[in-house]
Amino acid sequence: MAMQNYVYKSLFKVVSNTVIRSSSCWANVELGPPDAILGITEAFKRDTNPKKINLGVGAYRDDNGKPFVLPTVRKADRMLVEENLDKEYASISGIADFCKASAALAFGDDSSVLKNKLNATVQGISGTGSLRIGAAFFAKFYGPNKVFYIPTPTWGNHTPIFKHSGLDVKTYRYFDPKTNGFDFNGACEDLKNMPDQSVVVLHACAHNPTGVDPQPEQWKEISSIMKAKKHFPFFDMAYQGFASGDCTKDAYAIRHFHEAGHPLALCQSFAKNMGLYGERAGAFTLVCSSAEEAERVMSQIKIIVRPMYSNPPIHGARIVSKILNTPGLKQEWLKDVKGMADRIIGMRTQLVDGLKQEGSSHNWQHITDQIGMFCFTGLKQNQVERLIKEFSIYLTKDGRISVAGVTSGNVKYLANAIHQVTK
Ligand code: LMR
Repeated sequence: MAMQNYVYKSLFKVVSNTVIRSSSCWANVELGPPDAILGITEAFKRDTNPKKINLGVGAYRDDNGKPFVLPTVRKADRMLVEENLDKEYASISGIADFCKASAALAFGDDSSVLKNKLNATVQGISGTGSLRIGAAFFAKFYGPNKVFYIPTPTWGNHTPIFKHSGLDVKTYRYFDPKTNGFDFNGACEDLKNMPDQSVVVLHACAHNPTGVDPQPEQWKEISSIMKAKKHFPFFDMAYQGFASGDCTKDAYAIRHFHEAGHPLALCQSFAKNMGLYGERAGAFTLVCSSAEEAERVMSQIKIIVRPMYSNPPIHGARIVSKILNTPGLKQEWLKDVKGMADRIIGMRTQLVDGLKQEGSSHNWQHITDQIGMFCFTGLKQNQVERLIKEFSIYLTKDGRISVAGVTSGNVKYLANAIHQVTK
């Protein structure tokens, strides 16, 4: 009898579980695909090949392939510990010293943006969070239209962020696969043909994923077309310092657009140039036409932020603020940035040399022509698949490699693998 009861109870449990499951609210939720960039790191981690290389995510590695904590970040961290600070909430707009220093890094210490208090700047949750705040603000307040024009191609997360904010997304030409360079004429033509007052997303420097930036003269032309059409420049600057090794040079486009009289939006990230990936420090700025307008805009950005996450995390922003607001430390940090940029430039040359030594007859000059963290190799999807399957070399399926993951220890293996799949 006891046995019968047990069997009956277990059966009932199974039946009732099934009943509960089939009536679940989530029964129709489909399994989603892994993220096109971050999902690659998951696959990489599962791979047991000792020769595996992760060139998927844009995260800097030292020449031993290890995550790199900048010496200035270590110093700032120690200084903050000494200060014994409390852990109170930041204000909705974040840490004020951080916001001011971020805007100064982008526009320059002497910029009229700061002098005339034209900027409404809030701390964002790194680049993504800053883009999300900006997109939400445009979705709510930008009158002319709710379309963001993005370059083809662009960072894989742009479209989801903008759509998630309720905006439509359209594209303009940017990369020319024939030259592996900037499609200047195509971009200009598309800018001229979009409706007036369109919002145009621009990568301020070190374009992700292509590593192809407009030249200063081309930026000037883009700016004047956009001025004539009254387009709104929405800048994403996630790599200041990584393009040229010099944070001032990399701010050229932002500063030029401001001087040319554009209003502008700017999203900054300190994930890359301070190596603060997990600290999520970034900023969103709208440059307004007066201090009074900036105050009104700021009040509305805060109203957008409050229900999203209340107020931002403090530690990463304190590190950034400490570095940017301590003159000696800032100078050291600028050298740290240059050091990272230079190592990447060196790896580009070594990769091209390696391909030549392997006997590759293709023209790989774009690897050294392109700048910043990424190289858009031109590898086709089937070649990317072979690199992953046969060589455990992980990269995004569009053929982008994060050159920051290439080291003197793995560059030969990488060159050989690329040669094998392209010969
Ligand atoms: C990348 O493009 O690899 C980085 O910006 C990391 C990310 O979040 O996608």
